[in-house]
Amino acid sequence: MADIDAVLDAAGLRNQHVRDYVQHWFAHTGAERVEVVHASDDARLLREALDAGEIQPAGDGRYYSRSHPKDTARSEERTVVATSNPGDLGVYNNWRPASEMRPLLEERMRGASAGKTMYVVPYLMAPPGSPLAPYAVGVELTDTRTVVLHMIRMARVGVEFVNDLADPSFFVRGVHVTGDLDRLGQGTPDDQRCFVTIADERTILHFGSSYGGNALLGKIAHGLRQASYDGWASGEFLAEQFMLLGITDKQTGRKYHVCGGMPSASGKTNLAMTLAPDALGDRYRVDFYGDDIAWLRVDPEDGRIYAINPEFGVFGVAKDTNEVTNPTAVDAIAPGTGTIFTNVAYNADTAEVWWEGKTPEPPADVTGWRDWKGRLVSERAPEEKNDPWAHPNSRFTTTLANVPNIAPDFDTAKGVPVDAIIFGGRTRDREPLVRAIPDLAEGVYDGLTLGAEATFAAEGTEGVLRYDPMSMRPFMSYPEGAYAAHWLKVVGAATEQPIFAHVNWFQRDPDDGHFLWPGYRDNLRPLLWLMRLRDGEVTGRRTPAGIVPTVEELDLSGMELPPGDLDRLLGVDTARWRQEMGYREEHLAQFADLPEEIWAAHRRVAADFDAE
Ligand code: GDP
Ligand code: PGA
Ligand code: MN
Ligand code: MN
Repeated sequence: MADIDAVLDAAGLRNQHVRDYVQHWFAHTGAERVEVVHASDDARLLREALDAGEIQPAGDGRYYSRSHPKDTARSEERTVVATSNPGDLGVYNNWRPASEMRPLLEERMRGASAGKTMYVVPYLMAPPGSPLAPYAVGVELTDTRTVVLHMIRMARVGVEFVNDLADPSFFVRGVHVTGDLDRLGQGTPDDQRCFVTIADERTILHFGSSYGGNALLGKIAHGLRQASYDGWASGEFLAEQFMLLGITDKQTGRKYHVCGGMPSASGKTNLAMTLAPDALGDRYRVDFYGDDIAWLRVDPEDGRIYAINPEFGVFGVAKDTNEVTNPTAVDAIAPGTGTIFTNVAYNADTAEVWWEGKTPEPPADVTGWRDWKGRLVSERAPEEKNDPWAHPNSRFTTTLANVPNIAPDFDTAKGVPVDAIIFGGRTRDREPLVRAIPDLAEGVYDGLTLGAEATFAAEGTEGVLRYDPMSMRPFMSYPEGAYAAHWLKVVGAATEQPIFAHVNWFQRDPDDGHFLWPGYRDNLRPLLWLMRLRDGEVTGRRTPAGIVPTVEELDLSGMELPPGDLDRLLGVDTARWRQEMGYREEHLAQFADLPEEIWAAHRRVAADFDAE
């Protein structure tokens, strides 16, 4: 057995609690050697991964990686939140007793890293110095080098984040063991995969994947599941699947901050990267703060809600990313950015990558091109000819520093004050382009009743409408009733309330199914309307579902939308909404101890529709 102490000494890892934890899991997983990772190790780790064939060159300091074909998305069914308190059972958290899950994971992980290196990845999921930083410290142990390369891009990584803690034992303990991906029975009744957050022990044990949120434990398991539990247990903060952006109006000098939740693969990353439409000139600038996670707290100094993005990078959906939809993203993954592409199509001869929507048509000369499963496109069977080249959930991973519109103050310790909280998702009808909700309880109620079409970012049925409260359904760690109460408490304590809104970029034409709203860069327009509403410059049109813009209030300069489409985009279909109110009642009735304020908001909206 290697001399672990010598390795930890050489890496400058002084925290004895971390050292003990490493020793324990090293022995348990049977790894052959230990390596402590620092962000500055990136270049060497890339070389090693290239030499080992784990990644391939994708041109000018960018890389291509392919995950196992049965390991291409998060698995909600295999994800569990465990604690020692049966009262923590919620509707969506798949709660199990810690006393059952810990031994199960220990069993799966015993000896399962034999022959491999155990990488020790100390990290911080917060801007340094943040008041929430104590909750953001963690150590991921992983047996997969590509996971380390992703962690270096997505989190702040180094021993300095664990060495001098006020309470050296207060860090999240994350263990990731990949397992034999060929033999895990993925999707069968005998599925061996298991992704557990033992929230009251601040321990994360993930077995059976090396993909995205299943394997980068700082991101979703810690940044969302553990953090939302910590935020509730401490009473101090909220951790949500939110993007976070700034809008500067250069004419007035005002700056607004908007955060908001949309389910995975529903537009958060694109929204945070929005480049103002050309037709609006250079009056507005959108600053990127975050695209997937925000932690929110009330600052004692001015009593406002402040948000931080705990992450350090972007794990973005590749599909349809191009110069027209998202020029900002194209720059963020350009030559020299160190971007890692996962499960896109790849050409080893030319070191190029491609995905659906990168260009209107795939490369005409298919020579050398392989699809995301590694099959030569030229050799695909006739029935495979129409399969996408890239997996729909293929991704790019790049650090925040590469995002051209990164906010100058993105890592300010305090975070930024929040003016608006929005919810949205893929909804083909019913949901207008934007509806504003000035009331706190109605805003929280709106988030809890977010209904959207399931996407390819999780295993399951794509396109089926389902409720996804505040887009947190896959990350919910404590009961929904308590979650709603915690929201009312935290946001209710603010001296200045943010305005809520619901947005929908995905309404479709009922006849031919095309998107009625062009989306992407034009999404800034409804947000600008929302800010004007907040400032009292417009009044909108009142509906039972909230305030919607009039056609005149929405800045549509440079756009050509068929008038019928616009009516539909801004319309609230009373019959359809009355039906929806019934579904909502059933949805909310699942949640124990839902605060009376939420039920009152529901009854108010329902009564308003009845009175229409
Ligand atoms: P996230 O997973 O929530 O961050 O969503 P992304 O911003 O990565 O977008 C997911 C997918 O939706 C990508 O394929 C985008 O191209 C697409 N998308 C994003 N915004 C829009 C939009 O406004 N309209 C349409 N039609 N598609 C969009
Ligand atoms: P997404 O982030 O929401 O941008 O898809 C990744 C995830 O939630 O797994
Ligand atoms: Mn997400
Ligand atoms: Mn995203």
